[in-house]
Amino acid sequence: MLPSSSRSRSQPRAGMDYLDSRRKKHFLGKILMTVFLTAVCIFILKQSPGFSSTSMHGMLKFSQHEPGVTHVLVTGGAGYIGSHASLRLLKDSYRVTIVDNLSRGNIGAVKILQELFPEPGRLQFIFADLGDAKAVNRIFRDNAFDAVMHFAAVAYVGESTLEPLRYYHNITANTLVILEAMAKHGVRTLIYSSTCATYGEPDKMPITEKTPQFPINPYGKAKKMAEDMILDFSKNSDFAIMILRYFNVIGSDPEGRLGEAPRPELREHGRISGACFDAARRIIPGLKVKGTDYPTPDGTCIRDYIDVTDLVDAHVKALAKAKPRKVGIYNVGTGKGRSVKEFVEACKKATGIDIKVEYLERRPGDYAEVYSDPSKIRQELNWTAKYTNLEDSLKVAWRWQKKHRNGYVTFLTS
Ligand SMILES: NC(=O)c1ccc[n+]([C@@H]2O[C@H](COP(=O)([O-])OP(=O)(O)OC[C@H]3O[C@@H](n4cnc5c(N)ncnc54)[C@H](O)[C@@H]3O)[C@@H](O)[C@H]2O)c1
Repeated sequence: MLPSSSRSRSQPRAGMDYLDSRRKKHFLGKILMTVFLTAVCIFILKQSPGFSSTSMHGMLKFSQHEPGVTHVLVTGGAGYIGSHASLRLLKDSYRVTIVDNLSRGNIGAVKILQELFPEPGRLQFIFADLGDAKAVNRIFRDNAFDAVMHFAAVAYVGESTLEPLRYYHNITANTLVILEAMAKHGVRTLIYSSTCATYGEPDKMPITEKTPQFPINPYGKAKKMAEDMILDFSKNSDFAIMILRYFNVIGSDPEGRLGEAPRPELREHGRISGACFDAARRIIPGLKVKGTDYPTPDGTCIRDYIDVTDLVDAHVKALAKAKPRKVGIYNVGTGKGRSVKEFVEACKKATGIDIKVEYLERRPGDYAEVYSDPSKIRQELNWTAKYTNLEDSLKVAWRWQKKHRNGYVTFLTS
């Protein structure tokens, strides 16, 4: 039996217990509702543009400068060159934020990078369109970037002649958005992806950085306009700027983690290596070589093919040497021109497949010969191309292509 004092206390307690249990239920309900609403919010947020796929703890690292850590914003990091550049930056201990609208790139490439570098504060991915100035400003406000590598662009010469406004918008206008955000948020180092297409059809080969720029298609013109904007802005700012003009990029990660996987619908505008591999895999019946009467030794066009591993090395060197109030403009090429026929032969050897080749009339807008003089980048950035054997670069790329018949979507071996 309970002592009376206990009993007398126990009477009202019964009522209080009842009230408590109601409160508890109410409280529990509230907690459950909060958990449910939070889950719904996270789900909605995950679907929305601008969502960053990083934990809160990881996000804090991205929003604060850390001594000894250089945080690089890589625009277009889900694309071919941007993903390879991100891999190299991460390997070299940089902190990387990829911003991409996935219009052309592959989330599969980002996932591979995230698996390789899962530690908090190494890599975050933000889904956003650079044409959305508000979203870009938010990204700059919420993150502590030290430098920007601006790769994001639509990048097909043929497509640019069909949709010029899209090119001026995506390349020129979006670069303005990036520049304005950088200026507003005090991020003062820019490495800009430009192209040999800004030179047009120069009279003299090889192309040096002093070769006059007279681009002949909207892609080259949009890139030249973006360069001009950057240069004009640099005259009255303390920005550190590096403009890299790439020649024809080929190859992929020698360790087979990343590759080139353009959307199937872009095949018709595609680049020669993609077309060779498609022909080798019988996705297309054969290769169409357009023009055999150019004033070159074998009559086909001559280009300078630069391996993507060398190209990203040039970016890292450019970033390391970027100085406030200085602008560096560099050609990134091997300095060697190879004909389309040579390329096709190298591709046949790399794939071991006797690719069918059809020789057709010239395509309007193609120029006979384009190759770089890379001495400036060698002298000033101590960079030279190392992967200069076409067949070897194509072998590496072919290995990836064979394992990824549907790009990053499935991983089937042929
Ligand atoms: N591939 C080459 O041979 C070559 C040669 C010279 C210069 N470049 C330049 O290198 C850069 C990268 O080219 P790539 O071959 O990797 O192309 P890519 O198409 O593989 O990658 C471009 C990436 O940018 C993203 N992107 C495009 N528009 C965007 C936007 N508005 N907002 C956010 N993301 C956007 C795409 O989704 C894609 O992931 C481009 O600037 C291109 O002009 C390429």
